[in-house]
Amino acid sequence: MATQRSSRALRLALRQASAPHVQQRTFVSAVKAASRPAVKQTAVSSFVQQTRGAKTVDFAGDKEKVYERDDWPRDKLLEYFKNDTLALIGYGSQGHGQGLNLRDNGMNVIVGVRKDGASWKEAEQDGWVPGTNLFDIDEAIGKGTIIMNLLSDAAQSSTWPHIKPQLTKGKTLYFSHGFSPVFKKQTGVEVPTDIDVILVAPKGSGRTVRTLFREGRGINSSFAVFQDVTGKADEKAQALGVAIGSGYLYKTTFEKEVYSDLYGERGCLMGGIHGMFLAQYEVLREKGHSPSEAFNETVEEATQSLYPLIGANGMDYMYAACSTTARRGAIDWSKKFKDTLKPVFEELYDSVKTGKETQRTMEYAGRKDYREAFEKEMEEIREMEIWRAGKAVRSLRPENA
Ligand SMILES: NC(=O)c1ccc[n+]([C@@H]2O[C@H](COP(=O)([O-])OP(=O)(O)OC[C@H]3O[C@@H](n4cnc5c(N)ncnc54)[C@H](OP(=O)(O)O)[C@@H]3O)[C@@H](O)[C@H]2O)c1
Repeated sequence: MATQRSSRALRLALRQASAPHVQQRTFVSAVKAASRPAVKQTAVSSFVQQTRGAKTVDFAGDKEKVYERDDWPRDKLLEYFKNDTLALIGYGSQGHGQGLNLRDNGMNVIVGVRKDGASWKEAEQDGWVPGTNLFDIDEAIGKGTIIMNLLSDAAQSSTWPHIKPQLTKGKTLYFSHGFSPVFKKQTGVEVPTDIDVILVAPKGSGRTVRTLFREGRGINSSFAVFQDVTGKADEKAQALGVAIGSGYLYKTTFEKEVYSDLYGERGCLMGGIHGMFLAQYEVLREKGHSPSEAFNETVEEATQSLYPLIGANGMDYMYAACSTTARRGAIDWSKKFKDTLKPVFEELYDSVKTGKETQRTMEYAGRKDYREAFEKEMEEIREMEIWRAGKAVRSLRPENA
């Protein structure tokens, strides 16, 4: 899974292209800038969409074309998909976010889920109507021209023998992750050779896909083409990326998407950061610091004060907003952390690329009791001292009083 970044990164890249070099900022200017809203907020009402055009952006010397809503304004989207039925299969986090955004964008979208599953009820609660735009999986695939496979990655594999024969010539197959076709030896997802196969992968949770869209913002997404039979796969992916509510879209390949995604979530986005938190907290506790102090110095200050500064304007900006003492030590120690951790990241990338990570996921998700096993792990995490301390710290935030 990826971070919940918005198209703020693009805006920042554009701003930095014309702005003086950020390191020239003083502490005072950094603090002043911190109090400015980093993004002009659009009215939060009724799904206002920002518009801007496709452009080539210089990402630190690497020029890349990006796609935005201006390339696919709503009228153009409606015209482009006027003969299509988008059949969204699965209604988990991504199904919910992408489905509701497509519906609000006026697309002809239907949902396909199993009738006895939790998703059916959830879809009904979100206003999908059985027999009108909510069907069982086979019926939805039968009606759809663009089949958006948003089942869990494990379910994409287990249902594939049943789904594949229904993907007849003329349909398009869409994923939000390269997992299934890239690791086909493990998943068995060998796509039919006579259909377009594309991907749009939002860089964040489906819940964020929805909330950003409702705020008139948008999640960043990558898009890719696995197989182009019609010669239109590329533009179809871009258009779908905009239709599901992306902020900006960058092009990748299925392989690069799945490698970077699995690597990122195991690394800095989730696993790595959890490991860092635990290591730092444990040492503080062993050295006699209280849980409250250890949590504040490890997690609370990070998430509530410093990481938002990095998100708003970059690492130098965060450093500039901190004391000289903090800055000196942090810059010095960052090198040691980088050198120590780099071999771990190299090992992690290899583990992803060689399929070890997908194998582990498939085996785990293939267990009958995987939901219970996962819940047990969540419970263990919840019960760790650090996260229990965190609960107490959060309860003391003034806004939670
Ligand atoms: N979640 C994210 O943050 C995220 C971000 C980017 C991309 N993606 C990708 O988006 C895709 C969907 O992910 P997700 O997190 O939205 O999905 P998910 O929550 O893991 O699962 C979605 C759906 O799978 C269905 N399902 C599970 N087992 C099934 C089975 N055996 N037969 C039929 N249906 C089954 C569930 O239906 P029931 O309720 O009936 O069980 C549910 O509707 C994946 O490829 C994922 O990698 C996810």
